[in-house]
Amino acid sequence: MFETPVHPGLSKASPYEELTRSLVALVEGETDALANLANAAALLSQSLEAINWCGFYLLRGEELVLGPFQGKPACVRIPVGKGVCGAAARERATIVVPDVSRFPGHITCDPASRSEIAVPILEDGDLRGVLDVDAPEVGRFDHADLAGLEAFVATLTPRIAWGSL
Ligand code: SME
Repeated sequence: MFETPVHPGLSKASPYEELTRSLVALVEGETDALANLANAAALLSQSLEAINWCGFYLLRGEELVLGPFQGKPACVRIPVGKGVCGAAARERATIVVPDVSRFPGHITCDPASRSEIAVPILEDGDLRGVLDVDAPEVGRFDHADLAGLEAFVATLTPRIAWGSL
């Protein structure tokens, strides 16, 4: 789902390509899934401008449970289908929310969050979790962020031993 392109003329492909290269270097040679997810969250936090939260929710049964993240303490459990993250998990599609106050069922963790993007993590067709990024301004995420974060997740997913988490 994508409602409003925010900066349609701007290309942000390069920063995301660099980010994905950094991710590969960061997790290369390390097999511990928790450590790699923690470093991936830290890399995003250090690399993306104008965000206030980023991190992973991991699928546990029918719930998403908080995993490695950067930002304020957040809601621990989100049922699949609830909120932005739960909707991305249920739909198995990236959801960009330009204004969280207009998203029915949005779950407020940090009141500073104004826009959000949630990217499902799929390993060989199995849902493993969701990458969630929040921003303190409306309309922070555009098509370039969607493509860039999907590429980030696609690069990360085969490098994580999800079954060990
Ligand atoms: N806003 C999210 C909950 C997670 S926090 O933003 C970290 C949602 O509606 O799913």
